[in-house]
Amino acid sequence: MGDYDAIILGAGAAGMMCAATAGQRGRRVLLADHADAPGKKILISGGGRCNFTNIHTAADRYLSANPHFAKSALGRYTPQDFLTLIGRYGIAWHEKTLGQLFCDGSAKQVVAMLEEECTAGGVTMALGQPVTDISHGDGLFRVKLGDRIVSAPSLVLATGGPSIPKLGATGFAYEVARQFDLKVVQPRPALVPFTLGPDDALFQSLSGVSAEVEVRWNKTRFREAALFTHRGLSGPAMLQISSYWEHRTPIHVNFLPDLDVDWLLAEKRNRPRTGLRRVLVERFPERMADALLERIGAQGDLGNLPDKTLRQIGERLAGWSFIPSGTEGYAKAEVTVGGIATAGLSSRTMEAAKVPGLYAIGEAVDVTGWLGGYNFQWAWASGWAAGQAL
Ligand code: FDA
Repeated sequence: MGDYDAIILGAGAAGMMCAATAGQRGRRVLLADHADAPGKKILISGGGRCNFTNIHTAADRYLSANPHFAKSALGRYTPQDFLTLIGRYGIAWHEKTLGQLFCDGSAKQVVAMLEEECTAGGVTMALGQPVTDISHGDGLFRVKLGDRIVSAPSLVLATGGPSIPKLGATGFAYEVARQFDLKVVQPRPALVPFTLGPDDALFQSLSGVSAEVEVRWNKTRFREAALFTHRGLSGPAMLQISSYWEHRTPIHVNFLPDLDVDWLLAEKRNRPRTGLRRVLVERFPERMADALLERIGAQGDLGNLPDKTLRQIGERLAGWSFIPSGTEGYAKAEVTVGGIATAGLSSRTMEAAKVPGLYAIGEAVDVTGWLGGYNFQWAWASGWAAGQAL
């Protein structure tokens, strides 16, 4: 029989959604976490306002070795389903940009809602105790929780990925997956700022400056803001492309996403007596215009500059490349790319094919969303899918 019908490890976004769903279907659920409170990442997400979903959710906005895997869960539990849920709790929200939905008030409302949903499902919470020694036999999973052992025929891995270890994040789900012979796609930090080497002094001199750019790595492009920091490059555009980036490869930045490379030639015709600096300052933050000019090494009125030079400046600004020295790693990564391989899981239920009764959901799985609410939507959808199946 087991002490419970299901033990869910990890009281984060996915674990709470799964526990509430299964509990409300009448399952006896234990939700265990080594942290002393649930949903810590939700609380700090979206600058404290939780970007809880994205209305443009679709499987092509997720990275995974199997780009089709997420379709089933995302199709069955949609952003609208989550909106209906928060609507029941009277949580006010707004769309910020690019389909990103945030609470008007606080992320605390989302955690409180999920806790209430768990209570409504009669979920037992076991918080603040180490989770160790997982074993499986006679149709039951056994888990050591502090100094007691609990058992259930189903075990859900919802302990997320190792991003932001100071919040209690670990690679525990991968260890348990490997223990049961499930494959793990090499994890790496994602949605993470880049660091720069000494050659990129231009960027370092711009700490604090932000600019709208189009950033590209191979064929993947994002049009969003980039932020120069004292350590390197951040801001949504850079975080997005970091999830795709491979070490020692170049990133391409177009500082003129709305303009043609011949833009300065047109300016020359229209206002030949205007200085190059003035034109750049109209387009870029002043500090950035000066730094770009220093690198480009041209000055004077547009009318006195040869067309070839002006075209080269346009080409340079539209095709600026750099090779990051690395990233700021798990300490600063919003998520982890990679994780428990989807090849071993059912896309409908998240159950491991080889180990009936074992499930993996949320960030622990090799499904990673873009920045902008996509990761929570995956947590809700995969948690809900498993919660329906337990
Ligand atoms: P999650 O990490 O939420 O939960 C895992 C749980 O497992 C935690 O409670 C942890 O304590 C527990 N755990 C870990 N190891 C354990 C162990 N060994 N034993 C027991 N328990 C263990 N996404 C988004 O869509 N919109 C946003 O606005 C943001 N903002 C954001 C900001 C910041 C700063 C970060 C770091 C991340 C985001 N994200 C985000 C990403 C989002 O937070 C993340 O994808 C989800 O929280 C993943 O949900 P999970 O439930 O899978 O893991």
